[in-house]
Amino acid sequence: DMLLGVMGDPIAQSKSPLMHTAALKALGIPGAYVPLHIAPGQLGEAVQAIRTLGFRGVNVTIPHKIAVMDYLDKLDASAVAGGAVNTIVNDNGVLTGYNTDGIGYVRSLKAEAVPDLSGAHILVLGAGGAARGIISALLQENPASVVIANRTADKAQELAASWQAAGIVTGAAMENIAGMIPDADIVINTTSVGMFPYPNDTPVASGLFRKGQVVSDLIYNPLRTRLLEEGLQAGCTIHGGLGMFIYQGAYALEYWTGEAAPVDIMRQTLLEAFG
Ligand code: ATR
Repeated sequence: DMLLGVMGDPIAQSKSPLMHTAALKALGIPGAYVPLHIAPGQLGEAVQAIRTLGFRGVNVTIPHKIAVMDYLDKLDASAVAGGAVNTIVNDNGVLTGYNTDGIGYVRSLKAEAVPDLSGAHILVLGAGGAARGIISALLQENPASVVIANRTADKAQELAASWQAAGIVTGAAMENIAGMIPDADIVINTTSVGMFPYPNDTPVASGLFRKGQVVSDLIYNPLRTRLLEEGLQAGCTIHGGLGMFIYQGAYALEYWTGEAAPVDIMRQTLLEAFG
């Protein structure tokens, strides 16, 4: 049987076991995907246990996505570019770390909102781990420009500088972006602002969106954030974070099983759980 799981702390709230259990069943693959509560001090032993117990792979979530990189045998280019690992594949004891968050986000954005990102002017709100992961994947799509805006402007500048070679990424202070929002084709929130239990917060002032823009939010709890609500009212296309969660899982499942993930069933399972 195929043993899979997700390592995090806390882990009880994770919807990954629900989503992947439904996916394994739909594919007819005998196995299990279990929540694994791993405290930071136990991470090394837990990774070793993947080999000992013969797990085919695991997802890795907060707070282990960066620290886990030290314990793996190989890192895929996605993990190096994203600076974090969310998926481990075990090939006969050899552990490879991947980051499917960025490609999962881009696959979702293209499937649900913008089929072609080439030439797009993109404004990314936030400069943390989530921003890093998606920017590397966005740059593969040949956008015209990427502006990273962050409350702490230095972090936006640093993150932008790390993609200097790409030449089209710049940093900005969040307080200065009101004038930039109308120029963006796509505005993406990667900050935690607007997430439950503070769903009324937004990362930018209201009234700045214009018709025809795409407003995207990585948050999926709530499914429709206040930011997305404001975008909708301004006539924008909106894109929520549930798709990113589904597709990061879909890529992981495809690496473990070699089969196409049943994304419709995964989505349906989550919608029922959130409903
Ligand atoms: P993640 O991995 O989810 O990106 P992170 O690395 O801690 O988490 O980054 C959190 C991001 O949300 C940062 O861009 C942070 O801005 P700062 O760098 O200025 O801290 C942003 N963020 C969190 N709370 C915020 C708030 N109340 N207002 C504006 N930005 C906020």
